[in-house]
Amino acid sequence: MTSETVSCPANVPADRVVEFDVYAPPGGESDYFAAWATLRGKHRLVWTSANGGHWIATDGELTRTIWKDAETFSNEALAVTPGLGEVMRFIPLQQDAPEHKPFRTTVMKGFGNNHVMAMEPVIRAVTRDLVAQLRPRGGCEFMQEFAEIVPIHVFLSLIGVPTEDRARLRPLGQQLTRPDGTMTVEQLRDAADDYLRPYVEERLASPGSDLFSRILAVPIEGRPWTFEEARRMCRNLLFGGLDTVVSMFGNISLHLARHPADQGLLRERPELMPQAADELMRRYPMVSVTRNVVRDIDLDGVTLKTGDLVYVNSSMHNLDPACFEDPLTVDFERNLSPVRHTTMGAGPHRCVGAGLARLEAIVFLDEWLSAIPAFRVREGTSPTYRAGNVGALTDLQLAWD
Ligand code: HEM
Repeated sequence: MTSETVSCPANVPADRVVEFDVYAPPGGESDYFAAWATLRGKHRLVWTSANGGHWIATDGELTRTIWKDAETFSNEALAVTPGLGEVMRFIPLQQDAPEHKPFRTTVMKGFGNNHVMAMEPVIRAVTRDLVAQLRPRGGCEFMQEFAEIVPIHVFLSLIGVPTEDRARLRPLGQQLTRPDGTMTVEQLRDAADDYLRPYVEERLASPGSDLFSRILAVPIEGRPWTFEEARRMCRNLLFGGLDTVVSMFGNISLHLARHPADQGLLRERPELMPQAADELMRRYPMVSVTRNVVRDIDLDGVTLKTGDLVYVNSSMHNLDPACFEDPLTVDFERNLSPVRHTTMGAGPHRCVGAGLARLEAIVFLDEWLSAIPAFRVREGTSPTYRAGNVGALTDLQLAWD
């Protein structure tokens, strides 16, 4: 990612300028959340010159407001990384109203509750199988040996592709989660497209019952999907559903490894697992989005100009004491209904895979805690994070007796 810095535009008052690179926040390698918390302060909107220059919302209410106001804040840009949006052109993620709605409605149908629930045996089988392999070893590097594997397997099953393809897709997933600089974003997109192409063509020509077929079989305002639209949608699902879930698994495990009492509570009261999944997802949100301003607007005493970029990070909302009481504390019985957390976004682009991700989290808690004894972060190791639009743990050594 670039950290190209630019000079400060005229609409940015000097006291709003911070030094903050969203791809390398200060101390982010050892604690992603603490790094973001350094931005909380007297202003609700600050501006950084890193990555081409952009605003950052630093409090909960404003973060949520920007996320929901799709009329002022467009989704077209995708990221503060210059050029990334033009390369990926995701459908429905990078579409605005009115174009967005028919595509989103169609994708949502593909993720209907009945279809998601039908995935449970697949999710359970792959989770159980991996846990059974890891258990006798007394420990593992959780990210590579568990977190990166399950979402790929689930995705392949969803799109009706043999799960042996896992080996082919895994390096791509790894580049997405832990980019090592060997691939440009164009190469990553092309590799994903090359992988997806035969399936997209086949599902368009003769639909089956898999996720892509279900979505592509529904016309867009009375006409069939074009190949290019289909490809952009399938690309969105691939990129949207892998590293986010990897990141979620990492955070849940790290929390439990550091909080044996919470492991004990869930073992004693497994009926709390669905609520625990929701609360852990609230407490450890790692997705940030970029919006481009499409009309001048005054906010927090400054004017955001048309064309400005605003970066919105869900931890600024979920971990703001003004939005959630005692937000850093994990309480499995917390009432989450008054304010919906933004781990899955807010407004018209809220995650279409939210139900699937939640199911993966619940099954993970159930299978992992039933099979693995009390576990902890392996002595002498420290978890490391990678920041970015989807922050994630990159190394998490766990041990059990
Ligand atoms: C824990 C896991 C996940 C997290 C934290 C997450 C987070 C998000 C967030 C924050 C957004 C909103 C983006 C925005 O406002 O610009 C979003 C949208 C989206 N997500 Fe997820 N996601 C997860 C899992 C998944 C899965 C499993 C899939 C599919 C297989 C998926 C597919 C999508 C798609 C297609 C969109 C775009 C929706 C639209 O623009 O209408 N996500 N996700």
